[in-house]
Amino acid sequence: MNIQVIYYSKYGSTRQIAESIAKKLGTDNVTDIREHKAITGDLIIIGSAIFKEVAHEEIMQLLSDEQGKLKEKQVAIFVVCLSRERTTKKIDNKEGGGPVYIEKFEKVLAKVPFASKIFGGRMILAEMDDADRERTKEFAKRVRMPLKDVNVMSEAEVDEFAQDIKDKLNV
Ligand SMILES: Cc1cc2nc3c(=O)[nH]c(=O)nc-3n(C[C@H](O)[C@H](O)[C@H](O)COP(=O)(O)O)c2cc1C
Repeated sequence: MNIQVIYYSKYGSTRQIAESIAKKLGTDNVTDIREHKAITGDLIIIGSAIFKEVAHEEIMQLLSDEQGKLKEKQVAIFVVCLSRERTTKKIDNKEGGGPVYIEKFEKVLAKVPFASKIFGGRMILAEMDDADRERTKEFAKRVRMPLKDVNVMSEAEVDEFAQDIKDKLNV
């Protein structure tokens, strides 16, 4: 089985998770979406970091552009985020959080994924560009959250996802 991993990461946590998934599944076919050339695997694992409630547009574009090709393949999806539970905003009643991000992926994919996972990410203020740091400050103020670094990445979650895929592949 030829396994291919494609991801979008801005600050590195999604890259780290993607590379760890690839390693655990024994493939070195892992690429940043910005360097992606072609769908070459039989099982494609596609993941994105979530910013402002959405996966990166190039990842969504890949899912829609390659819909025909992906229909014939097995496709697993993952998101990396901090809001992992389904939430409903009080202001506009809009839903967000991990399950909603996954649903958006599934909608564009237009089929049930082979496997899916919501991973906890990492947010380090000192690593952020100015615009993101400002946005984060505003968000923390608005929801009355303390402004501090967050790291909820877990290797155990990567193990679970890799194991789920292995079980489904029967290897
Ligand atoms: C400006 C900004 C906006 C974010 N928006 C969301 C969001 O809407 N929902 C969420 O769950 N996490 C959000 N996050 C958290 C990121 O998903 C998390 O930091 C992730 O690990 C980043 O992945 P990366 O290191 O691969 O870039 C946001 C982070 C930043 C800096």
